[in-house]
Amino acid sequence: MRYLDLKLSRPQSKPGAISRACGFLEIARMLRAVCQAVVWVVRLRMLTVALGGMQQFRYRQVTQADVDAMSELRSRSGWSGGASRDRMLAYFRGEHHPKQALLERVGYVADSDGVVTAFIAGHLTTRFGCAGELQWILVGPEARGLGVADTLWLLLKEWFQAHAVLSVCVNVEPENAHARAFYARQGAEVHACSWMIWRDLTQSYTVPRGTMVAK
Ligand SMILES: CC(C)(COP(=O)(O)OP(=O)(O)OC[C@H]1O[C@@H](n2cnc3c(N)ncnc32)[C@H](O)[C@@H]1OP(=O)(O)O)[C@@H](O)C(=O)NCCC(=O)NCCS
Repeated sequence: MRYLDLKLSRPQSKPGAISRACGFLEIARMLRAVCQAVVWVVRLRMLTVALGGMQQFRYRQVTQADVDAMSELRSRSGWSGGASRDRMLAYFRGEHHPKQALLERVGYVADSDGVVTAFIAGHLTTRFGCAGELQWILVGPEARGLGVADTLWLLLKEWFQAHAVLSVCVNVEPENAHARAFYARQGAEVHACSWMIWRDLTQSYTVPRGTMVAK
């Protein structure tokens, strides 16, 4: 039998090599911590969506009695867009008219356990040659990403179609990425810097969330 004469000698480690190895270890530890943090954020997001999915939303047409709750929702959402309580009330009473608006208008709210969680409003118009305008849409932060905005848009779209409206415009700031993503997902195209348009509602479809859509 032959034995290999293995001489196990410890490699001579240099101080530079040790500190480099320590540096790599530190980076590896940090990367691990970052990965763990990302996993927890994803888990929490999934839990929020799952809990939100269990939430029941009821949808109904806006009445003037809803305006206080809509205004409260706007305040607690920290949304600087939209309109004040008085302006919203005047809008639904037919006493305040956005540019080129016609008198016919409608709003829908989503409520959860009797609390107004979201709303949408729109009217007939002649703006940009469109026949309809989406005036406001707001979903409370706790209900975003759950499809509430999709349902509200569907209700308004049905109202527009019942009024023979084909094209609809909406004013949306260039920096409002969430709203632009939402409108693009519903089939709207960019018209100008702060406007998006649905050219033909009969040809506009909702793309499932998470699909890449040009904004
Ligand atoms: C615009 C709005 C109604 C859309 O409602 P929504 O429920 O968020 O709609 P979506 O689920 O389609 O989400 C739209 C985008 O916001 C993102 N988003 C949704 N919920 C989110 C949350 N809780 N946190 C961060 N981003 C979120 C989505 O990922 C999506 O972006 P993406 O398509 O690039 O992935 C809602 O964001 C809102 O009320 N915003 C404030 C009011 C406003 O800006 N109104 C429009 C004025 S023109």
